[in-house]
Amino acid sequence: MHLNSLTALALVAPASALLRFGCSQLVVERTDPLVNPGVAPSPHLHQIIGGNAFNISMRPEDGDIAEKATCTTCQFSEDFSNYWTAVLFFKARNGSYHRVPQVPNIGFEGSNGGMTVYYMQDGLANYQQTSKVTAFKTGFRMLVGEANYRTKVQANRFRQITYTCLKEAGTRYPESMDFPKAPCAYGIMSNVRFPTCWDGKNLDSPDHQSHMSYPETGTFENGGPCPSSHPVRVPQLMYEVIWDTKKFNNKEDWPEDGSQPFVWSMNDSTGFGSHGDYMFGWKDDSLQRAMDSPCYVNCPTLKMQSIAVGNQCTVPTVVDEPINGWLKALPGSWGQESE
Ligand SMILES: *[C@@H]1O[C@H](CO)[C@@H](O)[C@H](O)[C@H]1NC(C)=O
Ligand SMILES: *[C@@H]1O[C@H](CO)[C@@H](O)[C@H](O)[C@H]1NC(C)=O
Ligand SMILES: *[C@@H]1O[C@H](CO)[C@@H](O)[C@H](O)[C@H]1NC(C)=O
Repeated sequence: MHLNSLTALALVAPASALLRFGCSQLVVERTDPLVNPGVAPSPHLHQIIGGNAFNISMRPEDGDIAEKATCTTCQFSEDFSNYWTAVLFFKARNGSYHRVPQVPNIGFEGSNGGMTVYYMQDGLANYQQTSKVTAFKTGFRMLVGEANYRTKVQANRFRQITYTCLKEAGTRYPESMDFPKAPCAYGIMSNVRFPTCWDGKNLDSPDHQSHMSYPETGTFENGGPCPSSHPVRVPQLMYEVIWDTKKFNNKEDWPEDGSQPFVWSMNDSTGFGSHGDYMFGWKDDSLQRAMDSPCYVNCPTLKMQSIAVGNQCTVPTVVDEPINGWLKALPGSWGQESE
């Protein structure tokens, strides 16, 4: 993606479907209904957005979350999906940790933390968005990334999980696979792009990944074909999470050896362990309808709610432990990763 600023996008006339919307924070806690269902606390802290049917266990056989949820933190009010990532911490020179707050993207001011979600038919730079895609099905879920990866060689498997060092709110390149090495004036954006080819059969798989694939050759952006094992082309799901590192940019608090001080909640200071989780929960055929309609950021075929209304949707916290202020250690215990 090579765009100076997403504000530039808004000036381009819509042609077909590209959804870009904000979702406020639903909850921040150690739960992970995909990888560690029923386990509370799960090994590491997550930040979660979306519908309030989010729970420590969300098996497909427990029912459609779009039916169970009564509110969502997302602007498209028919989207009761849940989306989550790990949580970024700052580790000060004295060894204390502080959670890095999340701030909304351009255009979503007023949102309580959360992230920006995209569903695309073609690459973001293709304003035409002409390709056909098949929306995810009820009960569909997936994961991208591996929480225990710590090297570039490992992370190359995912190629599209990256960071942008934000000089200003609209900075969009370059992207790196590891954490930025120097202070980023506006913050660090973590970009999570999911694979776009589905096997057409399984709503999930044991590793939550193998029912999905990247294109056989090329990339989603350049229209690479899906492999015959995973022939169904689905929308490109992408998360942008802006971590507001501004108040942690004082070099006096950074490690003396010159390394960078940010660490994911699973004790990853490389950045290669970044991962994103998705539980589909659009109501009825709303996502397919949107993808088949001329939508560009705004989407008249979908119902919308204000950011203020989205901010009011929450779930009760299941895991009661300190996650705010200066902490002696990351929430959870380490060396027990299974994800
Ligand atoms: C979570 O699931 C439990 C049963 O396992 C249920 O009692 C509870 O109401 C659920 N919470 C939400 C927010 O749906
Ligand atoms: C550690 O450093 C941070 C940043 O300078 C400071 O705010 C915090 O109070 C310190 N914590 C301890 C336990 O000294
Ligand atoms: C966290 O990771 C660092 C390496 O970055 C390692 O030295 C440390 O032992 C880890 N902490 C725990 C509790 O596993």
